[in-house]
Amino acid sequence: MNLTPEIELPTSDLSEKVAVITGGSRGIGLAAAKQLGALGATVVLVGRSEENLSAAVSALLELGVDADAICVDVSDASQVAKKIGEHSLAAQADFLINSAGVMSEKMAKTLRTTPEEWQRVMGINLDGTFNMISAIGPQMAQRKSGRIINVSACLGRFTGPGLAGGLAPYRISKTAVNALTKNLAAELGNGTRGVLVDAMCPNHTRTDMGGPDAPRSPEEAADTIVWLVTREHSADTKTGLLWEDRQVVPW
Ligand SMILES: NC(=O)c1ccc[n+]([C@@H]2O[C@H](COP(=O)([O-])OP(=O)(O)OC[C@H]3O[C@@H](n4cnc5c(N)ncnc54)[C@H](OP(=O)(O)O)[C@@H]3O)[C@@H](O)[C@H]2O)c1
Repeated sequence: MNLTPEIELPTSDLSEKVAVITGGSRGIGLAAAKQLGALGATVVLVGRSEENLSAAVSALLELGVDADAICVDVSDASQVAKKIGEHSLAAQADFLINSAGVMSEKMAKTLRTTPEEWQRVMGINLDGTFNMISAIGPQMAQRKSGRIINVSACLGRFTGPGLAGGLAPYRISKTAVNALTKNLAAELGNGTRGVLVDAMCPNHTRTDMGGPDAPRSPEEAADTIVWLVTREHSADTKTGLLWEDRQVVPW
């Protein structure tokens, strides 16, 4: 069943697969949950707000998706380890999608950024990604199977629209997420040991973060995430890269 008919979905059967999706309670993470759920995956949403999680789980269950939630602040390493460890499925997930993220304050040029604001954004966008990978990645490496997709941003690239000044904590957190992605992929043999690690740019999207006038729908933004999760893995699979619209883009 294609719950998002405007997108041509991959046809993989993901029943028996578990996807943990941070930021799954809203926006791009929720759209990815709907698309993966429509392919049969069990989805475990991770977010901070009980209320948003419960609304998202109800919406998914109504669509026939097998869904559950973990309420945790991804920036809190010990709580992430505890809550993921306690959940019956999350620690052994097949797919980890790190979509939880926050934007910097508007006037966040480097010289105007407070240490608190720097740490808030880095704590969620970068440390949160690391904390989730630390909680789930080792089991993937041991099983020699898994996919990790880090939702990055074009603003964090060294090329194109990235690093042009302003929104310093946000841009730099995403640059660091890109570095984490490439480095981890190399540590895991760039796909040769069964685990694929990639980053992707969703582009400007109509969510609470992107605002109502953004050109893309959350479903369009989630398409590359779903494609990365479901693509075939062979000896020449390209991984450890930054993707946009199913294509590799320079870091
Ligand atoms: N929208 C865009 O235009 C755009 C463009 C480029 C990149 N991105 C990236 O895409 C990702 C998703 O963005 P979005 O537009 O979907 O954002 P969004 O609609 O604002 O949703 C953010 C999600 O992150 C969760 N979250 C935030 N802080 C958290 C924390 N400390 N612990 C756990 N969960 C937390 C939120 O959970 P709660 O509901 O509990 O708060 C929510 O589910 C982000 O990483 C963002 O940087 C977005």
